[in-house]
Amino acid sequence: MPKQQNSDFRIVVLISGNGTNLQSIIDQIEQGRIPATIKAVISNKPSAHGLERAARANIPTEVLEHRPFANREEFDRELMKRIDQYEPDLVVLAGFMRILTDDFVAHYAGRIINIHPSLLPRHRGLNTHRRAIEAGDTVHGASVHYVVPELDSGPVILQGEVPILDNDNADALAERVHRVEHIIYPEVVRRIASGEVQLRDDTVFYQGQPLSEQQRRYPPETDLAHSSTSN
Ligand code: GRF
Repeated sequence: MPKQQNSDFRIVVLISGNGTNLQSIIDQIEQGRIPATIKAVISNKPSAHGLERAARANIPTEVLEHRPFANREEFDRELMKRIDQYEPDLVVLAGFMRILTDDFVAHYAGRIINIHPSLLPRHRGLNTHRRAIEAGDTVHGASVHYVVPELDSGPVILQGEVPILDNDNADALAERVHRVEHIIYPEVVRRIASGEVQLRDDTVFYQGQPLSEQQRRYPPETDLAHSSTSN
């Protein structure tokens, strides 16, 4: 059975689906690239394949379905309780298809991140690949950002670009965006777990300085050259 690395930096991952981004983070922890431990994976969907990925890596899993709860506030309160049992340093949203309440987001301010399949601030919300093609964009991609109450709007930590090709379609584009997600999401988790990235007063700091435009972009000219792309 594969085992994660032992580390004091504690992560809880929230999912609703396939969990390929979760897998990319698990893989890099197991390879010793990310100094962290995933303490739990929590899904709001019992059928989420990501739960099997977690179980395979010996990570505790929980399912918390939203349907039995009277409203969003009650669900989020219970979700917070479940997450806080694991005392996480970082909460990672990896395809968690729920809009979170302001109280939830405030509770994890500065220690909750999300990956969104577009080059934010372009194409917030759903169906981003189709909308990017329809808008005539020539580049598209994915963004990892800190979560704030407004949807898909928090400070961006890293973006990966992919070109939009002639006669591209949403499925093919989605697949290429996924490939870049599997590079940038573990890289951001690594940077946060190792203390290289922090949020201070709504500004992302990288290696002690406010993050530059160039550092926000993957592939940058510098430090991702050696990054593993094994999945
Ligand atoms: C990704 O496309 C991510 O950008 C979005 O949800 C999807 C999750 O995919 N937030 P997976 O479950 O990690 O494969």
